[in-house]
Amino acid sequence: MILSNINPTQTVAWKALEKHFGKIKNSEMNDFFALDDSRVENFHVKWEQFLLDYSKNRIDNKTKELLIDLANELNLKQSITSYFQGENINETENRAVLHMALRAKETESFLVNGVNVVPEVYRVKREIEKFSNQVIKGNLKGNSGKVFTDVINIGIGGSDLGPSMVVNGLSYYKNHLQTHFISNADADFVQEVLKKLNPETTLIVVVSKTFTTRETIDNARLIKEWLLSSDKIISADDHFVAVTANVEEALSFGVNKNFVFPIWDWVGGRFSLWSAVGLTISLSLGFDNFEKLLKGANEMDLHFKESSFDKNIPVLLALIGIWNNNFLKAETEAVIPYSQYLQKLPSYLQQSVMESNGKNIDRNGEEVNYQTSQIVWGEPGTNAQHAFFQLFHQGTKIIPVDFIGFKKPLSASMHKHNEFMANFFAQSEALLNGKSLEEVKEELTKEGCSFEEVQKLAPFKVFKGNKPSNTILIDKLTPENLGSLIAMYEHKIFVQGVIWNIFSYDQWGVELGKKLASTIIKELNFGVKSNHDASTSFLLNEFKN
Ligand code: F6P
Repeated sequence: MILSNINPTQTVAWKALEKHFGKIKNSEMNDFFALDDSRVENFHVKWEQFLLDYSKNRIDNKTKELLIDLANELNLKQSITSYFQGENINETENRAVLHMALRAKETESFLVNGVNVVPEVYRVKREIEKFSNQVIKGNLKGNSGKVFTDVINIGIGGSDLGPSMVVNGLSYYKNHLQTHFISNADADFVQEVLKKLNPETTLIVVVSKTFTTRETIDNARLIKEWLLSSDKIISADDHFVAVTANVEEALSFGVNKNFVFPIWDWVGGRFSLWSAVGLTISLSLGFDNFEKLLKGANEMDLHFKESSFDKNIPVLLALIGIWNNNFLKAETEAVIPYSQYLQKLPSYLQQSVMESNGKNIDRNGEEVNYQTSQIVWGEPGTNAQHAFFQLFHQGTKIIPVDFIGFKKPLSASMHKHNEFMANFFAQSEALLNGKSLEEVKEELTKEGCSFEEVQKLAPFKVFKGNKPSNTILIDKLTPENLGSLIAMYEHKIFVQGVIWNIFSYDQWGVELGKKLASTIIKELNFGVKSNHDASTSFLLNEFKN
């Protein structure tokens, strides 16, 4: 066993946390602020262009101390070393987990089975650079001799969510190439994308680590037919690129061997955007920006590896998340970026967090007796304020929030950006302080309401406050900072997996549905009968008739 195998609830620190929780559970965050003048000073971290303020959480100094004790008792430091040393911490698949090697400096060394993989990473990076430049500059052309104007990325899960989130997130830095992402097996949507495109000027990047994912391969076939249906295109070879760890399958699909970019089994799909899986990022933003993204992630890797836990952003976020999830019993966690560019960040995090830590079996093979992954969700502010913030403020559930915002705009005036960011600060302030019955009554009275009206209306206008949030304030939305932000969440996932004593890097839970779907496809398309439960049989009959 590489990572330690300890039920966290049996540790001294966990038991102390339970006792401590009993003591402080009725305290309000504002009591903590009142008692401790140095709370903000002690509960924030400044690192590079990041500021994390975690003072608006239901924790005090003792909580922080005990959470760090928990990390120590569960050998977090040693686990981080195993992770960075390329030990096979993905034990159920017998693999290392080394996405950090993909963004390493050329002088760094990351060993997989005793071999430094960094030189190979750089060899592939140079291929990505060369290929991207050729396409961007128009030196590489389609089969009929026209330059490429559009790129379709076909892939699903980690082969889609990372690249599409980054391309959208950094669209301010984009070049002239139009990028399109096709992930779903929904052929209606595929037609929707294709109808706007000219096959002669379209480059297709098929991204699939396994090259066996049904949705991706079916979509690639469909798009190959579309390409070949053009009387100007004789061969699809010049239009198809593959990114995969299964080179043979890509070749047998018909991809030209010079256009196959490799990835490795030590890169998990949901952590792969830093590899050739990010080819569409490099095509769309240029290789220099792709490199800057990697650089930002590498800087966060070093911060995570080297900082003490009390100043370590991913560790602190992970520990606060454990406190909220396992002690406050918050079931979900919202991520609210105040940037429309980061619209896809919550869905990206849904895969990376929930596919990693949505596990009910511990590293001992036994069912856990505590909660594991939070449910992650969110939308950009201020849109989210006008949609579901009502529930944050006055609902019955505790929803811890990560507010992510930027000090500087990209192209808007500072005046407009201030108007936008005023909401960012106002929301966490409102969640913390709320508004008491007395305040509401006073306000209504001042507005001229009668005594009866005040009595009737006041309860509905009360905000209880005391709702936890983290504020992540970053200088500017740049490729470097987005790289650091994503890496920050990746390491948070790692830390939580270590503490929950689960294997974060497999995903067996997605297999059963895939298998059943392939049986049902045979039934629907070829009439091969199979057994189902009564409800599913009924539904299939209704669908067929
Ligand atoms: O089904 C889940 C999954 O395996 C993800 O983990 C992965 O990101 C996605 O499917 C796509 O897999 P592939 O890159 O092999 O097509």
